[in-house]
Amino acid sequence: MSSMTYRDFDIETIRAEFPILQRQINGKPLVYLDNAASAQKPEAVISAMADQARTAYANVHRGLHTLANETTDRYEQARKSVQTFLNAPSEKNIVFTKGATEGINIVAAGLAETIQPGDEIILSVMEHHSNIIPWHFLRERCGAVLKWIELTEEGGLDMAALEAAIGPKTRLIALSHMSNVLGTVNDVKKITALARAAGVLTLIDGCQAVVHLDLDMIDLDCDFYVFSGHKLYGPTGIGVLYGQTEALEALRPFQGGGEMIETVSREAVTYNELPYRLEAGTPPILEAIGLGAAIDWFSTFKLKDIQAHEDALYAHAREGVSAINGLKIYGETADKGPVMSFSLIGAHPHDISQIADKYGVALRAGHHCAQPLMSYMEVSATARASFGIYNTHKEVDNFIEALEKACKMLV
Ligand SMILES: Cc1ncc(COP(=O)(O)O)c(C=O)c1O
Repeated sequence: MSSMTYRDFDIETIRAEFPILQRQINGKPLVYLDNAASAQKPEAVISAMADQARTAYANVHRGLHTLANETTDRYEQARKSVQTFLNAPSEKNIVFTKGATEGINIVAAGLAETIQPGDEIILSVMEHHSNIIPWHFLRERCGAVLKWIELTEEGGLDMAALEAAIGPKTRLIALSHMSNVLGTVNDVKKITALARAAGVLTLIDGCQAVVHLDLDMIDLDCDFYVFSGHKLYGPTGIGVLYGQTEALEALRPFQGGGEMIETVSREAVTYNELPYRLEAGTPPILEAIGLGAAIDWFSTFKLKDIQAHEDALYAHAREGVSAINGLKIYGETADKGPVMSFSLIGAHPHDISQIADKYGVALRAGHHCAQPLMSYMEVSATARASFGIYNTHKEVDNFIEALEKACKMLV
């Protein structure tokens, strides 16, 4: 992609592309710091979906009429955009799903018949529930054993413990690329190398990483990688399961129907080729086109510019909150995305979030779908600010001011 010309990173131009940023919340300009839960959508995504619905909508793949062909072309172009974005070997390695959660469930269900009692699945305590519960299903249904890797003091993955946990019964390592609570970035390349040497499959949950890190599937060499469109400035209802060809082919289809078949008779069914054999039923067509538009839009920027901007916002916020007495940050590794989870002595995270909302600042508070991590950190919940491409330094100031007000009221 080095021959590509990128846009200048101009924050005001970027913000003008997000209609929702015009909103006022409780009489104050919206400061949206809940990007790790779901990001806002630029006009490029909104209009790609609306234009398709207005001008060229039909079901994909099955028709021979013009609208069906045009829609199929756009849908498959979106798959091509994902393939290029991930540097995946082929479009066949890109399965559209309804989100990261569905992608992980497709892998777990697809592997179920191959799991014997006592087979081990390695996870970490920083995983999102979406990368825990499908493996609990295999524990409940197939007798799989879940092995949990704990963290370093700074909130990094204990790599020595991971290495020691891999043994002859290990079948799969399932880890997040970047934690949605701690922001910790895991060394996926090192992990997949360890796994490959031991003949173990790897599934990487890229839900948070996809919007902050440079992704190269060939280089990372994981067997499976999943993410959701809605955190990448795209729509909900669409996500991606990337898999190496052999790994995807080894999965038994999770759902039946629609395009996933080659032939069906009263006696038997034969399955379509990849990626269609894992895409049962009418797919989320407009959502896939929206995701393609989001990736095309996102890719007009130099990733380094986005990273530098978000890192600077995080550093500014980190500096600002350091003056607040009793505030504790969770996750302080050197390699960390722009996510700040914190608690404040004497204040419940839900109250912090409610007070911040009065000042227009959208924070998340709760367990962030990471209860094993919460119990590991001995808290029931944290508050979280997560930064995205359109956030500004003025907004970081608003966030700090809102926190100071929350402190005065609660502590
Ligand atoms: C790290 C991580 N994994 C998985 C998910 C689940 O994503 P979705 O609900 O879009 O399937 C999330 C969403 O917050 C996440 O942050």
